[in-house]
Amino acid sequence: MEGDPLSALCTPALVVDVDKVKRNANRMIERFEKLGVQLRPHMKTHKTLECADIMTGGSRRSIVVSTLAEASFYADHGFDDILYAYSLPFDKIERCAALSERLELFQVLLDHPDALEQLKSRPLRDGRLWHVWLKLDCGNGRAGILHSQPEALRLAQAIEGAEGVQLTGVYAHCGNTYSCKGVEQIQTVAQETTNLILQFMEKLKSVGITCKSSIGSTPSCSQPVKDMAQLSEVHPGNYVFYDVQQSLIGSCSLEDVAVRVLTRVIGHCPHRNQLLIDCGWTGLSLDGAGKLPTGYAVIEGHPDLKLTSMTQEHGRVEPILGSLDHSKFPLGTLLTLIPYHSCATAMMHPVYHVHSKGRLVGKWIPTRGW
Ligand SMILES: Cc1ncc(COP(=O)(O)O)c(C=O)c1O
Repeated sequence: MEGDPLSALCTPALVVDVDKVKRNANRMIERFEKLGVQLRPHMKTHKTLECADIMTGGSRRSIVVSTLAEASFYADHGFDDILYAYSLPFDKIERCAALSERLELFQVLLDHPDALEQLKSRPLRDGRLWHVWLKLDCGNGRAGILHSQPEALRLAQAIEGAEGVQLTGVYAHCGNTYSCKGVEQIQTVAQETTNLILQFMEKLKSVGITCKSSIGSTPSCSQPVKDMAQLSEVHPGNYVFYDVQQSLIGSCSLEDVAVRVLTRVIGHCPHRNQLLIDCGWTGLSLDGAGKLPTGYAVIEGHPDLKLTSMTQEHGRVEPILGSLDHSKFPLGTLLTLIPYHSCATAMMHPVYHVHSKGRLVGKWIPTRGW
């Protein structure tokens, strides 16, 4: 109930510190306002209306989504100017067409000529245009046509030249910042990605095409380089929650992390020098593979403890060194886990418990599915 302390919650429970969410979101808004670059926040981390309102400063405009379920959810609640930044799935063309015909601005992304053919074969009604971003791979090594391949420029020209289709922009996701350690390495990747995108924009200009440019990830947008001011847009998402991974990369401090999983001690196993907790991988996810010195998460206030392993509904906690004094952790003791990867952890929860200074202020319900 509102006003209750967090200890009133049944566990495992995902708790969100709304003051930190607002602080993280406002810092990003101010950072890119100063640089004169449009912030297009990604919704994939939280998938809620409340957080989207905070990230867009209440405008309900200019967002990125990773699934069509998110796109529909936000469209149904008055959001517009939505970019579905996922290699265009052919089974979902009709749903994309419906959103394009319904919203002021629905944008799709592609990285293959076959995807362009799919769009051409489904012209939009009422003279509307398909708004298309070309996805480039600038070193991330996931989706996108390689920036240096001649086919990339050819595809941009084909999009621009296609009837009923408009090249809105060029999009590169610098997810390779996730293998960085420290600000210097993050900024090296941010600079490289910015340079490659800007070089590609020059190539486009030389064939008479101008459009928008967008790069971004939470590390690069938390520690931007000044040349990012030459981009049209950036598209980070995780920053609204942050997590242990981001603090290790150098995007934020652990103090900035806005989410926790609350869990309780449900068993003593002195014969294994372990505690059992009521958070398994369904409450935390297995992301991070337990590679932190403290295992799958940081246990707040207990740097000497490690979340060693999890099954579906159980977690095993043991000391990093020495033997555990079980009397310090009676059954029912509340422990607080700081997640390794908040996107993955949030996905495991059908409801987020929102608090301010440790008192519950409400619940956020995320959308799910594809
Ligand atoms: C295509 C795309 N754009 C933007 C983002 C947001 O980046 P981040 O999670 O680093 O904030 C992601 C995240 O995976 C992504 O896949």
